[in-house]
Amino acid sequence: MEIAIIGSGYVGLVTGTCFAEVGHNVICVDNDERKVKALQSGTIPIYEPGLEDLVHRNVAARRLRFTTSIEDGVDNSQVIFIAVPTPPQSDGSVDLTYIERVAREIASVLKGYRVIVDKSTVPVKTGEKVADTIRRYNKAEAEFDVVSNPEFLREGCAVDDLMRPDRIVIGANSDRALALMRKIYEPFMAPVMVTDINSAELIKHAANSFLALKISYINAVSAICEASGADVQKVADGIGADKRIGRSFLSAGLGYGGSCFPKDIAAFIAISEQLGTPFHLLKEVQRINQNQRERFLKKLRDTLWVLKEKRLAVWGLTFKPDTDDVRSSVAIELVNDLTREGAHVVAYDPKGIEKVREFKLCPDTVLVSSALDAVRDAEALIIATEWKEFENVDFSEVRRLMHTPLIFDGRNLLDPNTMRDLGFQYHGIGRGTV
Ligand code: UDX
Repeated sequence: MEIAIIGSGYVGLVTGTCFAEVGHNVICVDNDERKVKALQSGTIPIYEPGLEDLVHRNVAARRLRFTTSIEDGVDNSQVIFIAVPTPPQSDGSVDLTYIERVAREIASVLKGYRVIVDKSTVPVKTGEKVADTIRRYNKAEAEFDVVSNPEFLREGCAVDDLMRPDRIVIGANSDRALALMRKIYEPFMAPVMVTDINSAELIKHAANSFLALKISYINAVSAICEASGADVQKVADGIGADKRIGRSFLSAGLGYGGSCFPKDIAAFIAISEQLGTPFHLLKEVQRINQNQRERFLKKLRDTLWVLKEKRLAVWGLTFKPDTDDVRSSVAIELVNDLTREGAHVVAYDPKGIEKVREFKLCPDTVLVSSALDAVRDAEALIIATEWKEFENVDFSEVRRLMHTPLIFDGRNLLDPNTMRDLGFQYHGIGRGTV
C-alpha cells in the first residue's frame, strides 16, 4: 500500500516507520523543514527504544521517505493519515487549528479518491468536520472518505505497541475505505474492531480517561492506606488479581503526567460539557491527581520541617521511565514546587536532562549527570520517576554520600525493608506500616 503520514511527531513518525516495516511504502510529511532535513540525514528527533534502527532500515530499503510537500504525499498515496498535534486550550478543550489547516491543505491538492484518516486524538465529531472542510475547499470535487483510527501507543514501548497491538479500531462509514484500512493492518494480525466514526473517536478518549481513573482510584486508596497503616502495593495486588479489574495501571505514585492523559481527560470533560452531558467523575480524577503531589509535598514538610535552603536530590524528571519526554511531567512540577519553596534541588535523569535544559523547564535546579552526583550532601533523596537504573545504584554508597539518609520514594520503586536495613528512613506512597 502507498501511505502518506502528515505530521512527523511522536505518533506520526512511529506509525509511519512501523507501516514501512511491514512492507508498505510510506511518505512522512512535515512542514518543519529542519525536522525533515534531520530525518532525511538519519537523525531521529525523539528517543524511543528500537525506533532509530527501524527508521534507518526502512529508509535504506526505500520504503520510507520524508518530505515537506503535502502535494507529494497526497499525489503518491492511497491513504493519508493525519497525525498533527492537538494541543489543549486554556479551558481544557482541544485546539483543532492544525487538523483544520491540514484538512484544507489536503483539499487544495486532492485530485482523485483518497482515504483520509484521523490518527490524532480528537474530540468526538471531529471526523464530520474534517469531511465538511475537505468538501468545502476541494475545487476538484474529488471523492474521498474520512476514517477515524485512534492510536494507543505508550511512549517507551511505542514500537512494540504498534507492531503487536491489542486491537485496531477503525471508525469508517464506507466499505471502500474500510477495505483499504483492513489491507494496511492485515500484516499486524491483530483483532480489528469496526465502528462508526464517532464511536472510534470516543473510544480513544474513553480509554485514556478510564486508565487515568484507575490511577486516581489507587492513589486515593493510597491515602487511606497511609492513614490506616495498610500497604497499597498489597491492596493493588489483591484487587488486581480479579480478572475483571486487572493489576495494570494500579501503581500508586505521584500521579499521572505526560502529553496524553492530562490533556485527554481535560478534553473529554470539555466535549462532554459541550454536548450537555458533563462528566463530573473525571473532574474528581483530575483533583485526586493534583492532590497526590500535594500530599507528597506535605510528607516532605512534615519530616524535613522547613524546605528552604535544604539540599534535596531528585532522581527522575521524565513523565515516566524509558522516554526522554518531559512534557507535563509530575516530576518537573514537583521539582519546581520545591525550588519555589527555596529548596536547593540537584536532579538527575537518565534520558531527560537535555530536554529539560533545552526548554528551561527547571530553571532553578542543578542538573547533574549521575545518580550518585545528585545525592552528594543531600538532606533527602526523592524518587520522582521509576527508572530501572535507580534500583541498581549502590545504596551503601548513597548512604555514605548523603548528609542525612532520608528517602522519599514517589513511585514505590524501592523495597522499604531493604532501605531501612541499609540505615535509611524510608517514605513510600501508601505504605503505612512497612
Ligand atoms: C498513554 C496511554 O497508555 C496510551 O494508550 C495512549 O495512546 C497515550 O497515553 P503514555 O502517555 O505513553 O500512554 O503513558 P502511560 O504508560 O500510559 O503512563 C501515563 C502516566 O500514568 C505516567 O505519568 C505514568 O507514570 C502514570 N502511571 C501509569 C501511574 O501513575 N500509575 C500506573 O499504574 C500507570
